[in-house]
This record gives sequence, C-alpha cells and structure tokens, in this order.
Amino acid sequence: MLTSHSLEDNVNTSYPFVKWAGGKTQLLSELDRVIPSEFERYFEPFLGGAALFFHLISNRKLSFSSYLSDLNSELIITYKIVKDNVSELLQLLKQYEAAYKSAPFGYYYELRDKLKPINDIEKAARFITLNKTCYNGLYRVNRSGIFNVPIGRYKNPLICDSNNLQNVSRALRYSKAIILASDYRQVMLDYAQKGDFIYLDPPYNPTNPTSNFTSYTEYGYGDHDQKQLASIFKKLDERQCMVLLSNSDTPFIRELYSDFMNYTKEVNVVRAINCRGSKRAGHKELLIRNYIENA
Ligand SMILES: C[S@@+](CC[C@H](N)C(=O)[O-])C[C@H]1O[C@@H](n2cnc3c(N)ncnc32)[C@H](O)[C@@H]1O
Repeated sequence: MLTSHSLEDNVNTSYPFVKWAGGKTQLLSELDRVIPSEFERYFEPFLGGAALFFHLISNRKLSFSSYLSDLNSELIITYKIVKDNVSELLQLLKQYEAAYKSAPFGYYYELRDKLKPINDIEKAARFITLNKTCYNGLYRVNRSGIFNVPIGRYKNPLICDSNNLQNVSRALRYSKAIILASDYRQVMLDYAQKGDFIYLDPPYNPTNPTSNFTSYTEYGYGDHDQKQLASIFKKLDERQCMVLLSNSDTPFIRELYSDFMNYTKEVNVVRAINCRGSKRAGHKELLIRNYIENA
C-alpha cells in the first residue's frame, strides 16, 4: 500500500500513455501561460491523452483533485485500470507485447478483430497495445463504433512502458481522480462549481472541408455540437468556474465566443496527427477563457 508521501514523491515523471489525435503536448507552453494561479478542483471532460493534466501535476507540481472524463468508454476503462490495477495490467501487457513482437501483423489483426476481451484488464491491455501499434496512433471508429485502424509501420514499438504507467497510476491516485465515461455536458452540469478550473479541448471545428478529424466516437462532432459547447461555456461562466477552451481559429468559433474575445489568445501550432501526413501544416488556434488571472 502506498502512503500519500510516496505518491507525492513519484508524480513528477508521468506523461500521456496513449497517443491521441489532437493531443495537446505541443500547446503546453502556451496553455501554461494561462493556467489560473489557484484552484482546488481540475476538470478535463474531453480527456483523450490528458496532456494538460499530466503537465499540471508533473511539471507544475500542482496539487488538486481531478474529474477526468471522455465519451470514449474504452479509453476511460483503460484510465481506471491504470489507476486501480496497474500491476495486473503490466503483467498482461508484457504478454501482449511479446506476442506482438513474435508476429506483428498476425497478432495485430487477431487482437483487433478476433480476440474478445473478457474483463476490463484485458480491455485496457488490448487498447494500449492497439494504440501503440496502429497506423499513426490514430484512434478512429466507424459509424458502428468499431475500431478499424490498420497496423502502423513500427520497427520496435514500446508497448509496455512500465515506468510511465506506474507513474501515471500514482498521479491519478494522488489527484484522487474521478474517472467517468460520460458526455461532457453531463459532467459539467452535474459537478462543476464556482472556482473549479475546467479545460475544454473538444474535437476541433474544421478549418477546411478536408481537415475534419472528428471520428473519436461514432457520433462525430459538427457545428451543432460546437454551438451547444459554447452555450455550456456560458453556463459555466455564470457559475463562476474558470474555463479555458482550445479550438481552431475560424470565423465560426470567433463568433460563438465573441463575448470572451478580450481574454482570447491566438497561437500557432503544427498538428501532430492529421488524417493525411502531407497535411501537417502550421495553422492558428484560439485559447479562449473567461478569466484574466494567471500564474
Ligand atoms: C481533441 S481530443 C482531446 C485531446 C486531449 N486534450 C489530449 O491532450 O490528448 C477530443 C476528445 O473529446 C472526446 N469527445 C468527443 N465528443 C465528446 C463528448 N460529447 N463528450 C465528451 N468527450 C467527447 C473524444 O473522444 C476525444 O478524446
């Protein structure tokens, strides 16, 4: 059993354990400049790889309790298992890694299409293995919600990153993470309170008709969803939460958040994962917030 002291000692080296489309690792230095100086509860309801969560807890060494959620239930099962059953997970993951390395192609498609996980530890091990070996690390589902990404071109992928997974587990326990498979609206309306810091990182509004990667879930994410998100942003503002949102810099997004443009920052980014490798061009994003204070 870990004491809270040993948890604190080990939270400083964790980083995202899944590759995720739209992951925010690149934007961290910009996000860091607009983090509020004080908060007790942190919410990341479009969790993905949770780059900002790991930054806050590892690099900034902030202490807070967290609500981490995403609509992708396999991703969320994996976070829960990493938090509560990391030793069993590592054991199984090592087996999957060995099986993959002995026959990458055959094992990848067997794991993706044939082997049915019978418990959450198996689901988590399968999820991590596929994430580390699939094409571009791009989690994408078809309209029936089935993961359908082909095998990627990796020579020697690190599937079982034991050190980091153990540190992630400690970070999740240290921040007493409440981990939920849920739509962001539910989590926001049920739990967010005055003084909470909330980072909203939704699927982005496409900058052009071919840049619309929104297939994280079978539901996609369109203009109607962006409008609903803007109305939730306003509700959270009325509740006096501190809300930070990232999105692409488009006229539509500027219009939706026109009340908050005084506090908005433009930043330049190169997208880490695009559906087409050749389209990894730089572009502008917006960091929209409803508070002025920062560290
Ligand atoms: C841009 S990614 C977040 C990336 C994350 N910030 C990171 O650092 O990796 C958007 C996430 O929103 C999730 N998502 C899409 N629709 C959602 C919804 N209605 N409620 C909650 N999560 C949703 C997707 O599954 C995806 O993980």
